[in-house]
Amino acid sequence: MNNTVTISYAHDPVDWQRLADIFANAPFATRTPEDIQEAFANSYICCFAFSALHDRHDSTLLGAARAISDGVYYAVILDVVVDAGHQGQGIGRTLMEALLGKLPLEKIYLTAPPDAQNFYRKLGFYKHNNAMGRYAHPEKAFEHGVLSKQEPWSLAGISRYFTGSKPSNHQFFE
Ligand SMILES: CC(C)(COP(=O)(O)OP(=O)(O)OC[C@H]1O[C@@H](n2cnc3c(N)ncnc32)[C@H](O)[C@@H]1OP(=O)(O)O)[C@@H](O)C(=O)NCCC(=O)NCCS
Repeated sequence: MNNTVTISYAHDPVDWQRLADIFANAPFATRTPEDIQEAFANSYICCFAFSALHDRHDSTLLGAARAISDGVYYAVILDVVVDAGHQGQGIGRTLMEALLGKLPLEKIYLTAPPDAQNFYRKLGFYKHNNAMGRYAHPEKAFEHGVLSKQEPWSLAGISRYFTGSKPSNHQFFE
């Protein structure tokens, strides 16, 4: 645990404009504070890293992470981001550990650009070979190789595996 930050699961101390600036400068995404606040409010669990140098009312937001989940089988981790000036100090790992501690589930998914995948690899994530995605505007994702038109049968080496079971009730389909 990184002791230079305080982790909060509460939304009320968050300055959403500050989080929008962190998103933009990370660099991660350009989003409005209103959209970010709504997305976080509609999530299953969120965590926020604040500077531990000040008290709660005078601390600076340094990063955030959130997950959507059904609370039983699945969770998807989204929007893991650390302020550009504070990256490489263990804050991202602290955020992820705080989030994972609230997600005692069998299957946790996320997407990550290639240059961030080793960050998640160190937290126990592996490449997922049977994931699919449907985008409203997929052109750029195809252009950048994020989506592929590779035919599904080229993955025939992967056995069919039902991912929706709890650990005590695994079902396999060959
Ligand atoms: C990716 C990101 C969240 C990582 O947070 P961070 O605070 O910089 O990472 P940490 O300092 O906690 O690093 C934890 C470990 O992961 C490694 N790591 C961090 N970022 C990495 C990267 N991009 N590639 C490979 N390893 C990385 C660190 O070296 C460290 O390794 P160690 O435990 O062996 O020392 C942060 O750099 C960021 O916000 N990047 C821009 C936005 C982004 O790409 N988000 C991810 C989108 S899915």
